[in-house]
Amino acid sequence: MDLSLTREQQRIRELAREFARTTLRPNALRCDEDAEFPLTSLRQLADLGLMGVNIASELGGLDAGVIAYSLAITEISAGDPAVAVTMAVNNMVSEVIQEFGTTSQKEAFIPRMTSGEFSSGSFCLSEPGSGSDAAGMRTRAEKTTDGWVITGTKAWITSGEFAGVFLVWAKTADDEISLFLVDPTAEGISVGPPEEKMGQHASNTVALSFDGVRVAEDALLGTRGQGFPIAMMALDGGRIGIASQSLGIADGALALTKDRPEFPTAPLLPLRARLEAARTMTWRAAWLKEQGEPRFSREASMAKLTASEVCNEIVSTLLTHWPASSELAHEQDLALLLKFVRDARVTRIYEGTSEIQRVVIARDLIRRGAS
Ligand code: CAA
Repeated sequence: MDLSLTREQQRIRELAREFARTTLRPNALRCDEDAEFPLTSLRQLADLGLMGVNIASELGGLDAGVIAYSLAITEISAGDPAVAVTMAVNNMVSEVIQEFGTTSQKEAFIPRMTSGEFSSGSFCLSEPGSGSDAAGMRTRAEKTTDGWVITGTKAWITSGEFAGVFLVWAKTADDEISLFLVDPTAEGISVGPPEEKMGQHASNTVALSFDGVRVAEDALLGTRGQGFPIAMMALDGGRIGIASQSLGIADGALALTKDRPEFPTAPLLPLRARLEAARTMTWRAAWLKEQGEPRFSREASMAKLTASEVCNEIVSTLLTHWPASSELAHEQDLALLLKFVRDARVTRIYEGTSEIQRVVIARDLIRRGAS
């Protein structure tokens, strides 16, 4: 693995960094306070190609690979983690359709997700009774003569109120899970109120109810019964996204100490070292995925576990040691740090809690051995 970045990767990192610095960061506090879904920023990200970084160019993506995607998420997260998670889920949903969709499914959805016509896609896997135990879902899809009827409830769905397409997992038999592409405007879908969250208020998180929602035969994504492995594969990639987001939150918070000689550096030194270790792990997982490695679960989970844990320690340590001052600029930076503290916590929860990452790592060690 070569750790030097290609010109294209550097260009995408710069592009994302500049957008985060000029557009996201100056507005992050206000958008958080107003819990304003970032429609304009998402459209601008689409114009920059960042809503489909690892998507083929003929489908409107940048075709720039997984490392470029990771770099972009990190930079956008340093500007506003709420925008980054929305971008991450859109990229993840587009990639699932790209990998498992038929030509007509790809053409029908992906260009609209990469161009910004759809503000985002949603990944509807979790349910009120099955977050960590994804296979324990109760949503069902019953076969009809010309399609399927979906009934159930999904919980904590990112962008659920605004998405242009839902990926919905449902049981098609007691021991069989399948995946469906669902139009959010279909009859029988209702959207719950936005969840009251600790952080990332500008991202949208809602429950979705599916009450006898009819979808056509061609709504099935992948083959019948293939839903669970597709979810797990998507989450392996998604965990690289959240590891990258965690790096960006830590970077964004650490940037607040720049040119502040009064800030004690010693408490942060070991954490900075661990952050760089997490960055290398994240890039390695991204590199494995980019090489077409069929299974990189362990590396993705290790990266997500390490990056999200160190990110939380960094923001918390910065808060502990924040020097007293009454300057206005200092107060604004403190407000931004407090936002990073609140935004960071969920990186240890979504796309699999730290405990679930340990389960994935342990099972993979048993399956593949330690090498
Ligand atoms: N790739 C491909 N196939 C996989 C796979 C992978 N990474 N992991 C599992 N599978 C397939 C395999 O066929 C496997 O069988 P074998 O490996 O034995 O052949 C089969 O699925 C069943 O796997 P498990 O027995 O490991 O399944 P399990 O029911 O015990 O669950 C789990 C495993 C890891 C706990 C899983 O339930 C899990 O990942 N839970 C966490 C769910 C999660 O991360 N949710 C996040 C929601 S999305 C989100 O948060 C987005 C957002 O808003 C930001």
